Amino acid sequence: MSEFNKLSLDAVQEEGFKPLRKTFSEGGNRNNHTSTAPGSFKFKDPLFDYYKYIDYREEIYVNRLREAVAIKSVSAWPDHRQEIFKMLEWTAAWTEKLGGKVQLYENPCKTQQLDDGTTIPLPPIMLGSFGNDPKKKTVCVYGHLDVQPALLTDGWNTEPFELTEIDGKLFGRGSTDDKGPALSWLWMVEAFNELKMDLPVNIKMIYEGMEEYGSEGMFETVNELAKPGKFLSNVDFFCISDNYWLGKNKPCLTYGLRGMSYFEVGVECSTKDLHSGVYGGSVHEAMTDLVKLMSTLVETDGTIKVEGVMKDVAPVTEKEQEIYETIDFDLKNYAEEVGVTTIGEARLRHDNKKDLLMARWRFPTLSLHGIEGAFSDPGAKTVIPRRVLGKFSLRLVPDQDPKQIAECVTKHLNAEFDKLGSPNKMWVKAHHGAKAWLSSTDHPNYTAAAAAVEKVYGLAPDMTREGGSIPIATWLEDATQMNVLLLPVGACDDMAHSQNEKFDRKNMVNAIKVLGCYLFEIAKIKGPKPSECRCEPISMEDMMIPGAFARGFRCKCEI
Ligand code: BES
Ligand code: MN
Ligand code: MN
Repeated sequence: MSEFNKLSLDAVQEEGFKPLRKTFSEGGNRNNHTSTAPGSFKFKDPLFDYYKYIDYREEIYVNRLREAVAIKSVSAWPDHRQEIFKMLEWTAAWTEKLGGKVQLYENPCKTQQLDDGTTIPLPPIMLGSFGNDPKKKTVCVYGHLDVQPALLTDGWNTEPFELTEIDGKLFGRGSTDDKGPALSWLWMVEAFNELKMDLPVNIKMIYEGMEEYGSEGMFETVNELAKPGKFLSNVDFFCISDNYWLGKNKPCLTYGLRGMSYFEVGVECSTKDLHSGVYGGSVHEAMTDLVKLMSTLVETDGTIKVEGVMKDVAPVTEKEQEIYETIDFDLKNYAEEVGVTTIGEARLRHDNKKDLLMARWRFPTLSLHGIEGAFSDPGAKTVIPRRVLGKFSLRLVPDQDPKQIAECVTKHLNAEFDKLGSPNKMWVKAHHGAKAWLSSTDHPNYTAAAAAVEKVYGLAPDMTREGGSIPIATWLEDATQMNVLLLPVGACDDMAHSQNEKFDRKNMVNAIKVLGCYLFEIAKIKGPKPSECRCEPISMEDMMIPGAFARGFRCKCEI
């Protein structure tokens, strides 16, 4: 038995290891769980021992993820708020155990007000750090430890909060979004410690527990901590692992996100719900108004019908078109994954790679999500709901401004409601909004990550954008002027937010490898530390990249 192997078994026993329920589906691939990436065992790689160590520890990482998934830290469930505190404390305890410094920073917004008027506490934000050597660069990582709601009855094949392995896939709520990736940073530090390897950079962690519910208190925290002398003021690079690869096998780095504007349109017609047989005919029904209003927002083909919304969308440039040509993306596979191939004549909105990716990444969309207060149970209840709230949101792209979008949407709905001539009460409420984010893949932060990806996976990453939103990417960049890199480690079919969310065992292991390797590559970057350099400021022209205005460069030395 090798030295590593023994170590790993001892530690597993020490941690109260329980074997995962592990099954293979019929016809499933039994070899799918092997974690060895093509580039992992290159002879003479200075990280050879590190990679090997991580491979031997695989079972331990699975076990810890099982523990983390079992904590039901659902930010949308007010009665589970304590579980978020528990999850943050669990992570803080690990950070300390691994030699880090931790602070559970009080949420500046303190409490959250629920619809019924009661208040519940907001969880703190975990600030961690490993090392404080002024000669080293500082990388700050962001992650979130809260998860989306999940119930077995939503259509999960396994208990959502019981990590279950099938064919090398670890199923569980939060496994990929974002507990698995967020915890990988800690296991990376642990491996360095155990192997007596010096961390090549200082590491800072900023982990929250309310991301899936709009990150309340995070904007204020980031701005406060970016002030001179505070936690974020000496950070040189940011790295976020909270999105996914474009495919199942090829890694990518992500340099763009869509923003978002979330809305609620309400209509109220009476003080109580009414029997449609007894009262139908005597009132102007709220639901009738609402359905009409919602139908004016978007066409069947997805065209947004709100005037003014498309005004600021950056035009597609020729250079930008070229970027899409080389990206590895299989439209047929994608259609199958989305599940549109087996439903009647359903199909994707575009039949070519470029248009489909552009529709996901660089054009806005408007989605209708639901109607609060409407009858939605099985059966045929004959009710006239007294008050209904339509929920919809737009995903925004450069250079749309959420404030201006909110104005357009409100104006549109008011005008449409006037046309109906209804006497009911109608209102529009704009919830959270976030601007789209776009960075440049030329930044050394990206070059370092690309080198690390290539070493670990033996493949150069694709450079991608995302249709989803991570508002903190912009907040961090705006507050500190330092570059933000999105380094996804999960696969495209991980199904974040959906039933049967999973994280592949091999992705979990390779994540830990690539994060460590990335830090080595960051340490190699020449020149002054970005947080200390104040050479020549960058001009607007310097920052134009195909498609829009790129951010994330501080001064000329970085280009
Ligand atoms: N990890 C996601 C963001 C994400 C998902 C990015 C898929 C790229 C691809 C994050 O946890 C999330 O769910 N974000 C919300 C943000 C919202 C609450 C402001 C989203 O995108 O809906
Ligand atoms: Mn996430
Ligand atoms: Mn999410």
